[in-house]
Amino acid sequence: MPVPDSTSKGLGYITSTLAAPVSPAEAALRPLSFSDFTGQPKTIERLQVMVGAARKRGEALNHILLSGPPGLGKTTLAFILGHELGKAVRVTSGPVIEKAGDLAGLLTNLEEGDILFIDEIHRIPKTVEEYLYSAMEDFRLDIMIDQGPNARSVRLTIPRFTLVGATTRAGLLTAPLRSRFTLQTRLDYYDRPTLEGIVQRSCGLLKVQIDPGGAAEIATRARGTPRVANNLINFCRDFAQERAQGTITQPVAARALELLEIDAAGLDEMDKRMLRVMAENYRGGPVGMSTIAVAVGEEAETLEEVHEPFLIQEGYLQRTPQGRVLTSKGYHAVGLKPVAGEQGSLL
Ligand SMILES: Nc1ncnc2c1ncn2[C@@H]1O[C@H](COP(=O)(O)OP(=O)(O)OP(=O)(O)O)[C@@H](O)[C@H]1O
Ligand SMILES: [Mg+2]
Repeated sequence: MPVPDSTSKGLGYITSTLAAPVSPAEAALRPLSFSDFTGQPKTIERLQVMVGAARKRGEALNHILLSGPPGLGKTTLAFILGHELGKAVRVTSGPVIEKAGDLAGLLTNLEEGDILFIDEIHRIPKTVEEYLYSAMEDFRLDIMIDQGPNARSVRLTIPRFTLVGATTRAGLLTAPLRSRFTLQTRLDYYDRPTLEGIVQRSCGLLKVQIDPGGAAEIATRARGTPRVANNLINFCRDFAQERAQGTITQPVAARALELLEIDAAGLDEMDKRMLRVMAENYRGGPVGMSTIAVAVGEEAETLEEVHEPFLIQEGYLQRTPQGRVLTSKGYHAVGLKPVAGEQGSLL
């Protein structure tokens, strides 16, 4: 079967082409089945319904879009879907698929019912996106091969596959692409009790000694994110070994996380720098994200994806049509008081 342009450059359906390579430590902590995965009850129930029905009917699962901030379990869930269905999961990411031939290479290598996981799907080039429409809908691809007088169109039939897309920026997906996903589901930050359970689970797997106070302390400061919790566990383990008796207790965790400049509410240095810039330089806003980004020396995109959602959810800042606005909670978080007449004095 002709697969133009795709074989030469080692295409992205193996894990090594992931945009953000998964560390072995992260992979070891990943829940493998629904029963192993805690939290996200709405998303889990939706997925269980779809998996159950697809299995009973012996059909491929419908296409699924998972969105939400980094580290909440999108990739984990894609692998769980494969595991629950007994199907292979091929992993790639939006920016890796540069042209239609790349997509053809990926799709024609799938087997019936396999899952194609496209991470960062909002970064897929527009020219490729249009080919994805017919692949998702009709399981075929019409692509042009060769150029000039030899140019011709080839129709490829693709096995019925399931596209699982993941994105931290659902808003950047075009409407036609979004509408082709039967289920669009958003992951939320985890609440503290759930995160405590995840911390206990990870410590069990890593054979790290931790008491309930230590688990609670890590969960409180993990900004609702399992990946952050797992990273904090690693540092607290080192700290407990080097500066304490080896067990992560509440005081040990608190001291370790202070050393990382993660405060009691889970705000890190960059979060606080954003809040401080807004208070001190912009009188609490409204101020645009690109202005904040320049002032704190970070990419606006990173601030929007990683930092802002948590700050908004926890009520440190608000998004208005005029720009970002600091709340009084935001002022207090950096040890300042809103001055009368400034934004935070009203919020
Ligand atoms: N519900 C959960 N229970 C236990 N561990 C979890 C859970 N969700 C995520 N994790 C852990 O958090 C880590 C990060 O999860 P994952 O890689 O799935 O996040 P993601 O949403 O794909 O992030 P990104 O947007 O950065 O790709 C995983 O290693 C996994 O161990
Ligand atoms: Mg991921």
